[in-house]
Amino acid sequence: MLAVGPNGAGKTNLLEAVHLATQGFSPRTRADAELVRFGTAGARVAVQGTRHGTPFEVELTIRPGEGKRAKLNGAALRTAEQLRAELPALVFTPDRLVVVKGSPAARRAYFDRALARLLPSRSSLPVEYAAAVGQRNAALRRVAARLSDSEALAPWTAQVAELGAALVTAREEAIAILAPAFAVKAAALGLPEGRLDYTGKVPTVEALEARLQRDIDRGITGLGPHLDDVGIRSGDRDLRSYGSQGEQRLAVLSLVLAEADCLAERRGGGPLLLLDDVLSELDRTRREALVQLLPANGQTLMTSTAADALAVEPGQLLVVSHGRVRVG
Ligand SMILES: Nc1ncnc2c1ncn2[C@@H]1O[C@H](COP(=O)(O)OP(=O)(O)O)[C@@H](O)[C@H]1O
Ligand SMILES: [Mg+2]
Repeated sequence: MLAVGPNGAGKTNLLEAVHLATQGFSPRTRADAELVRFGTAGARVAVQGTRHGTPFEVELTIRPGEGKRAKLNGAALRTAEQLRAELPALVFTPDRLVVVKGSPAARRAYFDRALARLLPSRSSLPVEYAAAVGQRNAALRRVAARLSDSEALAPWTAQVAELGAALVTAREEAIAILAPAFAVKAAALGLPEGRLDYTGKVPTVEALEARLQRDIDRGITGLGPHLDDVGIRSGDRDLRSYGSQGEQRLAVLSLVLAEADCLAERRGGGPLLLLDDVLSELDRTRREALVQLLPANGQTLMTSTAADALAVEPGQLLVVSHGRVRVG
């Protein structure tokens, strides 16, 4: 589907609403109060669809101060995780460029979310590992303040080592799944030899013990996958430092399309793709290439200011104007 309309018409709003209802959060902000229309007490998004041939209905409400509530087919959900597991959606927005050009932390967060989608049985590993590092850091500071002795660190060190090794393995697997598809999509969009490079630093107990005094002095765990990075390259060129804005955009788009394919293959149905303002920056050849790269068995919602940016069937065109949507 292509949603068209002038700037400020509400296209991003529409896409954001669909993301909110299917993923439980906005791709733009974590401040849910911002999602409520000015001057009203709450927000509600309802989405109906079909998945694996079965109809579903999801409803999400926000009341500032009371939090969010989501219902799937009328039944209240306890966590947004449940929603995401049922209705996977991947989003591209212009500010996602941060995945390529931002800090290592932005890439870790992005690839850990991809890990959670691609390897659902290990989806909680990144959070569990971060919690273990946080607890070890707190324990390091207690030792530095002489509130406890370094023996007390041993259980936390063991836990960081165990979860850290598991996280490195899971990341390596997720990257290995994504990398070939990334290369294919990037090449089709005109970015040659797309590569994803990840070498995790496994925090073994021995290696952590060996740097114990330094960690105590600094109050932080200085070794482990919480410090890793993922290289996003075209050939030998690191796109973070040496990619043009256009190449960085193609890289992010290739990542989204690659994951869509991998998910479609692993789950027997493509995710919902939400592509905001992607067409304006692409020349005609790349726009046509993009259409060919969309997963055949999923649904895509794109926005554009120009109705002629893409050739679509009449039923696939949504006209957005002053916050209202009609089928064009
Ligand atoms: N909480 C809000 N309540 C009411 N209007 C809002 C709110 N947040 C943003 N807007 C307005 O919604 C309008 C549509 O924005 P947007 O969906 O980003 O437009 P588009 O993507 O079509 O250019 C903007 O004019 C913006 O100021
Ligand atoms: Mg917009």
